[in-house]
Amino acid sequence: MAMRVAVLMGGTSAEREVSLRSGQAVSSALRDLGHEVVEVDVGPDIALRMTELRETIDAAFLALHGRMGEDGTIQGLLEILAIPYTGSGVMASALAMNKHLSKQVFRARDIPVAEDEAVGAARVAERGLGKVAEEVSARLGFPCMVKPNCEGSTVGARRARNIAELEEAIEEALRYDDLLLVERFIEGREVTVGLVGGEPVVLPVLEVVASKGVYDYECKYTQGMTEYIVPAPIPDELAERLRRLSLEAHSALCCEGLSRVDFMLDEEGRPYCLEVNTIPGMTSLSLIPKAAAAAGLSFHRVVEMVLETARLKINREGGCREVG
Ligand SMILES: Nc1ncnc2c1ncn2[C@@H]1O[C@H](COP(=O)(O)OP(=O)(O)O)[C@@H](O)[C@H]1O
Ligand SMILES: [Mg+2]
Repeated sequence: MAMRVAVLMGGTSAEREVSLRSGQAVSSALRDLGHEVVEVDVGPDIALRMTELRETIDAAFLALHGRMGEDGTIQGLLEILAIPYTGSGVMASALAMNKHLSKQVFRARDIPVAEDEAVGAARVAERGLGKVAEEVSARLGFPCMVKPNCEGSTVGARRARNIAELEEAIEEALRYDDLLLVERFIEGREVTVGLVGGEPVVLPVLEVVASKGVYDYECKYTQGMTEYIVPAPIPDELAERLRRLSLEAHSALCCEGLSRVDFMLDEEGRPYCLEVNTIPGMTSLSLIPKAAAAAGLSFHRVVEMVLETARLKINREGGCREVG
């Protein structure tokens, strides 16, 4: 059935540019599929804009990444306006955006994660940067990974090999968020698993090989700087385990419709779940389309499957449909 779909893209997060590209790719696929598309660049007037569009659209397709888009805020607005939207609901989106809280849920479900320490801006202000860096490194050792709790696309994330680098990395991460995570650095390989659709199809494991060692913003969005191998050249048993863990992580956070679960594998092949992305990139360079292709799913089919998940996620009769 042909629908009139608002594709929400852009926004004000650090990932605005990527989101615009995801939005363009999704819009073009939706048009090919026979749907009518209204492209919406999300700005401070979004509540007004969606109120105007409300009567004339059937659904909103979310192609926003990062804060004010992937984090439950836009989802909340669409719930209030009763506009069906794709993917995860308010709570799942907010939870997945928060790495610290996600990891607590993962631990409770026996999904392996890297050992870490959360560091707040208040603690740094109180005890001093040097003291905090000392305390954290005494526990986690070097190298370690420092990242803002609620940012995406590796913005503000850094590897630290000594106290000086750790202090610098903590300062840098605090520019993005009042809470940061210092994690034990997992030396090894990086893989990711996509999930698409209501009863999600778990895509083949994809390995990311960054030319610079850390898969940072530049590697992620520059053609040729990263190699992608799908299916990942790992034993079948491990691939199956990773796909099972991905479905577990997606379900544990009550995600819906579309997710990409990132892992590190250490040198012994032990997996550590890094995070669940609830609105992963959908550009031509993105990982979901590549993994889907390996499973025989075209980009158009992926977009259609995600569109089919458009609905309100909060039960108006009371209670919350999300909590499973
Ligand atoms: N504990 C870790 N050990 C080694 N590398 C890591 C670790 N955590 C993150 N990374 C690297 O940093 C990248 C970004 O981390 P991630 O937690 O996925 O945050 P985001 O993608 O939201 O920026 C990962 O893709 C990986 O390359
Ligand atoms: Mg990531």
